Amino acid sequence: MKELEEKIKLLGIPRTTEISDVSAFLNQQVDPHLMKAIGDDFAAHYNDYDFDTIVTVESSGIAPAVFASLALDKPLVILKKDERERDDAVFVQQPSYSFTKGNHYYLTTKSDLIQGKKVILIDDFLAQGSVVMNVEALLRKVDAELVAIGICIAKDYQPGFQILSEKGYDVYCQAHITKLDPETQTIYFG
Ligand code: G4P
Repeated sequence: MKELEEKIKLLGIPRTTEISDVSAFLNQQVDPHLMKAIGDDFAAHYNDYDFDTIVTVESSGIAPAVFASLALDKPLVILKKDERERDDAVFVQQPSYSFTKGNHYYLTTKSDLIQGKKVILIDDFLAQGSVVMNVEALLRKVDAELVAIGICIAKDYQPGFQILSEKGYDVYCQAHITKLDPETQTIYFG
């Protein structure tokens, strides 16, 4: 998606060879015009899909997912990251680990929000692909189906996109970053 790539080129900062800082427009300060364009782009891609609900994971996925939800006229369920296991049948949980942040958490939501639903997952970054697989495991527990995955920024120098594609997931990424060079402050796209 050209508009997102242009914004990353203009305001994205390669902090390391692994991590790009997009806090000027995506996850700390949010550019609403870019978010609208992102939502419309997801809507154009998923317009003909048969699904019930959009799902995202807090927190940085929320902004793009809200705009996609509005453009597709479908509800949005935000999966929470809970520090503790809940002894309550109202909730469904999936133990998860973030490679990027190095922390453990329980992906958590109320079962009845997603029970039996056909779901499209929208998220900001795709790195290792672990979030996607944990979301699918969570959905499976309530007989829900992961129909497709929409990602704003795939980091193709990390294995997530390739792993998910090879596993047969339907993955659409709006921008593919192939390399970050913090020395020259250059971000390369595929
Ligand atoms: P994975 O799903 O691809 O395996 O990713 P992993 O668990 O390793 O990490 C996902 C989290 O890391 C996400 O944050 C995502 O936004 C963040 N992340 C991954 N790569 C980058 C990057 O290059 N730049 C920035 N700024 N963030 C990155 P999260 O768990 O959703 O937490 P939150 O920050 O949204 O609250």
